[in-house]
Amino acid sequence: MAVSTVLEAGPQAASCEFERPKPFNLFIFGATGDLTKRKILPSLYQLNTLSLLPEDFLIVGSGRQKINTEQFRQQMREAVRNAASTSGEGVSGFNEGKWEELAGRLHYMTLEGPGSYSGMLAQCAPLEERYKTCRNRIFYLAVPPSAFGDVIKNLGEAGAATEVFPDDAGEKKGYSHIVVEKPFGRDLESARKLNGILRGYFKEEQIYRMDHFLAKETVQNILMFRFSNSIFEPVWNNHYIDHVQITAAETLGIEHRGGYYEESGVLRDMFQNHMLHLLTLTAMEPPSVFSTGRVRGERTKVLRSIKPLDPNGMDEFLALGQYGKGRMDGDVPAYRNEPDVSPKSTTATYAALKLEVENWRWRGVPFYLRSGKRLASRRGEISIHFKPVPHTIFREYTGDKIEPNTLTLCIQPDEKLDLFLQAKQPGSRICLGPVRLDYIYLKGIATADYARILLDCMQGDQMLFASAEEVEASWELLTPVIKKTESIGLKDFFPNYEAGSNGPALADALLAKDGRAWDPL
Ligand code: BG6
Repeated sequence: MAVSTVLEAGPQAASCEFERPKPFNLFIFGATGDLTKRKILPSLYQLNTLSLLPEDFLIVGSGRQKINTEQFRQQMREAVRNAASTSGEGVSGFNEGKWEELAGRLHYMTLEGPGSYSGMLAQCAPLEERYKTCRNRIFYLAVPPSAFGDVIKNLGEAGAATEVFPDDAGEKKGYSHIVVEKPFGRDLESARKLNGILRGYFKEEQIYRMDHFLAKETVQNILMFRFSNSIFEPVWNNHYIDHVQITAAETLGIEHRGGYYEESGVLRDMFQNHMLHLLTLTAMEPPSVFSTGRVRGERTKVLRSIKPLDPNGMDEFLALGQYGKGRMDGDVPAYRNEPDVSPKSTTATYAALKLEVENWRWRGVPFYLRSGKRLASRRGEISIHFKPVPHTIFREYTGDKIEPNTLTLCIQPDEKLDLFLQAKQPGSRICLGPVRLDYIYLKGIATADYARILLDCMQGDQMLFASAEEVEASWELLTPVIKKTESIGLKDFFPNYEAGSNGPALADALLAKDGRAWDPL
């Protein structure tokens, strides 16, 4: 039995708090949609309750629905109250006064076609004047991915990308940032096309490609942890590390997103973005400085070093699954019986993928990635499995096998680091046993990931957003495999794991072939 020692983070320094951003006008396209209600508005509400919004700001929601500002405010009030009742996006409790402060800044405009974009910008001018937004504008695309291209073009044609140039003091007077949600394209070709459309109007410094995983506290801590402690870097390579496991397991099913998920599947939904980002942060080289360009550059180099995946030999590196019915907190239906899902669907809701980073540091160290819906527990973590000691002097007492060390960076539900070591068990006999050192990174409510991303976009910090090169490199890796999986008949093969289980047996077999096993879920 492991002895557990808990170390906690020291008090937070005042300088670790966020700075309030400059005044802004946030345009939300798709303002009556699910993403706005579940993520964006609750995050803005959280920022307001934490006094992290500037004194002057404006939020303009727009969409096709013909509602007025009062009706929009009512819808958003309900959305924030719902988030508060589930602690969604870090919202704890609903405070009428705080809501009213935010609600007074919310406006709604109906968009009826390409021509209406310039009208909307013109109508906003007096509001921007009234709310003193200093002509800083953020255009947030919370619309379905199929609409990204049109909204970008319409904005570009309406002159929305224009920034107001530096004054004599050398400060930019008004920025225009555009936030594009994931999924960014559905394959390499469409991602390139979308990048092309964006670049037709906006400069790279204006473009914010979302990946909310990058904004999770422990994910950001990976680089701090690796590059500000001298004891880890010397062993962070193929001399000492046997393999790495990256897990994003969910208990939730696809909720009400059947239509989207049928088109996407787990490889597009979780691997092209979140899972590969976790891998790049674990594997990247230290940049010479912690700047957006250098960090993004190093992340991209990792993606470009991953051994290409041969679609004709997928059994070697890929295991797919789709959940059938099962028991979790009560009976849950099979994926094929979820709303808006075809009863013969071949969409994968689980994948396990083995990747190899071909460079000096990582040659020979497999990275095993797994993610799935309706699994036994919710868990996001990166687990570094070290090699065993080269020779054991304790054979007489412990036999040949000493459990190797593991270091686990836990992302969710708990934000912590776990280090498994071997140590003498107290007592007069020589007994070795595992000791777990837990470093609890965060207690209480963190700034939710969407809140952090919104703040960064207001501050003009692109570090936690993907560059054009990164999205294209990740699609380049996965597109041939995704296309191949879509061309083969998986109809009779699915479902192959029960809801509430650890995933398909095939995933276990993938590691067993290499003489390894997954960490328990
Ligand atoms: C989203 C995916 O990007 O990430 C969802 O579209 C997934 O399918 C979600 O459930 C997981 O994020 P989180 O922050 O809830 O773990």
